[in-house]
Amino acid sequence: MNPLLRSLQPYPFQKLSHLLEGITANTALTPINLHIGEPKHETPAFILTELGNKLDGIASYPTTLGSKWLRASIATWLVQRYQLTAIDSETEIIPVNGSREALFAFAQTVIDSKTAEQPIVVCSNPFYQIYECAALLAGAKPYFINAFAEHDFALDYEQLPQAIWARTQLIYVCSPNNPTGRVMTLDEWQQLFELSDRYGFVIASDECYSEIYFDEQNPPLGGLQAAQQLGRSKFTRLVVFTSLSKRSNVPGLRSGFVAGDSSILKDFLLYRTYHGSAMNPAVQAASTIAWSDEQHVIENRRIYHEKFKDALAILNGCLPAKMPDAGFYLWVRTPINDQDFTQMLYRDYNVIVLPGSYLGREAHGFNPGENFVRIALVAPLAECSQAMQRIKECISQIH
Ligand SMILES: Cc1ncc(COP(=O)(O)O)c(C=O)c1O
Repeated sequence: MNPLLRSLQPYPFQKLSHLLEGITANTALTPINLHIGEPKHETPAFILTELGNKLDGIASYPTTLGSKWLRASIATWLVQRYQLTAIDSETEIIPVNGSREALFAFAQTVIDSKTAEQPIVVCSNPFYQIYECAALLAGAKPYFINAFAEHDFALDYEQLPQAIWARTQLIYVCSPNNPTGRVMTLDEWQQLFELSDRYGFVIASDECYSEIYFDEQNPPLGGLQAAQQLGRSKFTRLVVFTSLSKRSNVPGLRSGFVAGDSSILKDFLLYRTYHGSAMNPAVQAASTIAWSDEQHVIENRRIYHEKFKDALAILNGCLPAKMPDAGFYLWVRTPINDQDFTQMLYRDYNVIVLPGSYLGREAHGFNPGENFVRIALVAPLAECSQAMQRIKECISQIH
């Protein structure tokens, strides 16, 4: 067996099952699950119809690069969404089977583990767990930058010693961030691009929550957009990862794309061709029309916004919960240890949330996820509302 597999931690949901094992939940109350970031709003009918209509596509093998219609639809979306002057749908876009597999596979393409010193992959802490595993299995060492509430969860790139940057081959950034909800600013992008220019590392920008925001006039800044605004016309050393899962409520469709630096994508395409990660033709057809409709996404955002307003009104004064910049998570400090809080909430109120410490690692003497929980506002409004009332009651038991 590959010995590197032994360096992987159990997935957070496995840790959570273990934490709740043997605890009997209060069955007088209906269970409410807010621990998984799985969209629960209705999948738009036009996507399902197109998927059904194009099932005959499975009679042939798809190409790894995907259909030109899908790539053209993605290119049009990118240009409109980020006011790009242009993006080449032949060389700067590849469809992927959800951003998760691509985030993982990307490290296998980018990392050169045959260097004198072990390569480093930098990522924020807490973080989406795929980055660490991708780094480890590519033979790299993860290096974490802690994100603190006191600094509004902004990453302080200055804290990394020069010797670490010199070994860094890849950085994963996540904006809008899971779990903190923070969106990177143009200044932060500028700093990151300057570091990438100086040290030569690749930037993987996970933007799978980019379409879940609350001000229609102010969508989150994306990596490609930041690059263009800063005069980087060729997206040098930058690849963004985008997904339909959250935007269109199709987590089971497994559809997303990567876009950016064409020379990196050329190698990524080669890797993917051998890996065998072409997208199902019916999924390609459904994705093509999903990227060309915004109406359903506007409605999706409206529902999330309503849930956040409701949740924050209920939690006001009992938990220090804040509206995130974007995304569908509340990332909130708990009055007691996050694991104890999660157990209590489950036992007494039949609500499941995710302990923040499971999304972080101890780094620089500290796990910044400790004493936080992640609450995914994915359930319907009434259910989320009920969960918040129960959380409020739970807190009142503690004080
Ligand atoms: C930060 C982040 N990136 C990527 C993904 C993967 O999404 P998908 O593979 O459905 O595109 C998720 C899923 O929850 C996520 O939270």
